Amino acid sequence: EKGTYPHYMLKEIDEQPLVMRKIIQAYQNEMGDLTIDHGVLNAVLAADRIYIVACGTSYHAGLVGKEFLEKTAKIPTEVHVASEFVYNMPLLSENPLFIFISQSGETADSRAVLVRVKELGHPALTLTNVAGSTLSREANHTLLLHAGPEIAVASTKAYTAQIAVLSILSEVAGKVKGFDMEFDLVQELGIVATAMEALTDDKEAFEQIARDFLSTTRNAFFIGRSLDYHVVQEAALKLKEISYIQAEGFAGGELKHGTIALIEDGTPVLALATQENVNLSIRGNVKEVAARGAHTCTIAMKGLEEEGDSYVIPHVHELLSPLVSVVPTQLISYYASLHRGCDVDKPRNLAKSVTVE
Ligand code: M6R
Repeated sequence: EKGTYPHYMLKEIDEQPLVMRKIIQAYQNEMGDLTIDHGVLNAVLAADRIYIVACGTSYHAGLVGKEFLEKTAKIPTEVHVASEFVYNMPLLSENPLFIFISQSGETADSRAVLVRVKELGHPALTLTNVAGSTLSREANHTLLLHAGPEIAVASTKAYTAQIAVLSILSEVAGKVKGFDMEFDLVQELGIVATAMEALTDDKEAFEQIARDFLSTTRNAFFIGRSLDYHVVQEAALKLKEISYIQAEGFAGGELKHGTIALIEDGTPVLALATQENVNLSIRGNVKEVAARGAHTCTIAMKGLEEEGDSYVIPHVHELLSPLVSVVPTQLISYYASLHRGCDVDKPRNLAKSVTVE
């Protein structure tokens, strides 16, 4: 039930700090250490390459998950859109593990790949919010998201839950492989939850950004580099689906290879700056578009902020920044949709789970 909330989407955005804490608990043993079911862990450790298959927002969570799997567990990982994978399968490694990410566990495009993967005899793990869903039943293994029911068509808390569970899976696998972890994930996810709370408590700021940048525009661009590039793709999808503003997420460095031609006086460009090693270069990209008339809004992480930034998000571990930097973009999309009189929870032409291919 949405209780006093005007929309499920807003309620679900607000639930994210709680979901982070629930996930930590659900994946902790009596000693307080993070743990993953043995069957799942063995499947991950046996793989020479992981293939993440998903659609929409879950695909975007997969892009972030790949970063963890490669950086913390050192397992080569590819991320694929299910509807493409099924007709155009890449050359597979000798011992692949497939990870299906699906909030609903019912997405037909992902299921089509799972059916094919099973025919080929490869192991599959489903990451889902719905125990007993089709993708969960048909895969060899399941990890649950513990996000609670997600009702709004626009996925929010499932995205952050998917990323959090993938971070835990990668951390546990990395530890078993004997790698030194440079940080304490339980503690860092706790810091993330607190940071999310600070953002959800500051809604007026994001309502104002939506008013200033998106109330009448027909299009908008999001830019980022490295992990921020993954998040801006999700930010653009969110804005498109609920506000009907044509939006795209680009890698900052790609703009000059074509897209910058679209920048006119007043074109909104929202940039994320949470990664130290690309902070200078994304700042350069913001200047390039501003010089061509763009109306720029930069959301930076504490420690990397510069004068003139539109918003500064609390500092969290860089690798976990997508969990936090996505929240302002969710709220900005929510308010853009609201201001433009759109149906926030049930955007046109869309269904919560897409059960046709
Ligand atoms: O239930 P799933 O995670 O498999 O759904 C995948 C996509 O259909 C879903 O994420 C969709 O992109 C959302 N409406 C995005 O907000």
